[in-house]
Amino acid sequence: MAKTKTVFFCRNCGNESPKWVGKCPACGEWNTFAEETVVTGKAAKNPKTSFAGEKARPVQIKEIVSGREDRINMQSVELNRVLGGGLVPGSLILIGGEPGIGKSTLMLQVALALENMKVLYVSGEESQQQIKMRADRIGIKNENCYILTETSTAEIINHVENLKPDLLVIDSIQTLQTDTVEATAGSISQIRESAAEMNRLAKVSQIPVFLIGHITKDGSIAGPKVLEHMVDTVIQFEGDRHYGFRILRAVKNRFGSASELGIFEMHAHGLREVTNPSEILLSQREEDVSGVAISATVEGLRPMLIETQALVSSAAYGTPQRSGTGFDLRRLNMLLAVLEKRSGFRLSAKDVFLNIAGGIRVDDPAIDLAVIAAILSSNEDIPIGSKIAFAAEVGLSGEIRAVNRIEARISEADKLGFEKIFISKYNEKGLDHQKFNIEVVPVASVNQLFGLLFS
Ligand code: TYD
Ligand code: MG
Repeated sequence: MAKTKTVFFCRNCGNESPKWVGKCPACGEWNTFAEETVVTGKAAKNPKTSFAGEKARPVQIKEIVSGREDRINMQSVELNRVLGGGLVPGSLILIGGEPGIGKSTLMLQVALALENMKVLYVSGEESQQQIKMRADRIGIKNENCYILTETSTAEIINHVENLKPDLLVIDSIQTLQTDTVEATAGSISQIRESAAEMNRLAKVSQIPVFLIGHITKDGSIAGPKVLEHMVDTVIQFEGDRHYGFRILRAVKNRFGSASELGIFEMHAHGLREVTNPSEILLSQREEDVSGVAISATVEGLRPMLIETQALVSSAAYGTPQRSGTGFDLRRLNMLLAVLEKRSGFRLSAKDVFLNIAGGIRVDDPAIDLAVIAAILSSNEDIPIGSKIAFAAEVGLSGEIRAVNRIEARISEADKLGFEKIFISKYNEKGLDHQKFNIEVVPVASVNQLFGLLFS
């Protein structure tokens, strides 16, 4: 018989506890436990509503037909890249992002662009009219795209069985509701159970399913981390709302690299793919200004040149301010400490602001050298030539360290007409200078870089 009971879930990691606790024993977060009612017993174990598939049995691995090769082309170079070369049939993909960033727009646009596939777009957030208006804005006509406004997983599964779509999009996982748990939509147990049902649906029917998920302010998918374990791929849609650029980033991918990046630009008629990111990430400027340095970064397999901007000024108030947009603040503080301690630059009484152009976030350590160059350039008020690029990591003792894929970085800068690139001397080994038109300058320390740039 079905029984209901009250349990507590951690909103951060989904850890379950029979009683309320202040600090989650699993993830260490404080005040994250919330009370929920769940159904236990038979009814919960045998959901009436699961997708009608065959019972599983053990099979020899050689009997299993490998489906790796037939990936579905999503008609989007950027999305294909992030998925690791197209969509794998039967996979469950979670696409997370802050409200208003463009998740619904991206998925609807993808659904509309798939001409030869029947797509079912399920929305629990917007009316059919609202979705139609968005589709009109995007301006792609497609007769194979079906819209369903529904939140019950049982109903969605019914419709999938009748319509037999080639792709299912759920907007969003937080609105789904399954009868097997009694908690309200958006609660942790609902999200977890609904996602599990969608996973079953995807695996049994081999229909790929996209789940849209909202993200909380601190960047985690709202609801439990459990979701991330359950799905095959987690991609995040991010960007600064004041800029048009949107980055699609693979965070986890069972079928490809987790460091791939796709770039889009939001405009009046949906999202445009940005296939040549360097051009947009380098700001247009008429004359050289101090505090700007270009970094040759690599995200995933793709090299791109990104502008870093620094502003160093005497602190107006007692405590100097440090802020970094698109760059890790702890890393910035570390680089400032290196400049102070190893090279004797007096920066501890200065405000330092750092900005990565285009509002994108960069994880590549090779950006360090450009960050240091930009800070020194602003501090000295001497511009760095606009045809100079940088690619190296900076270590704690002020040494310039080697980075991966150095050739790709150099050739990208070369291709874009840069005249000089500073790299680590440890990256020079085996490098064929003849291959490039660009002058490659190896440096060993921050002091040496300073001498080469500003004296
Ligand atoms: P939306 O897809 O609704 O975001 P999410 O689903 O992540 O909450 O996107 C909302 C924003 O995108 C909204 O501010 C309007 C903007 N937008 C455009 O600029 N151009 C367009 O063609 C569309 C459809 C939306
Ligand atoms: Mg939306």
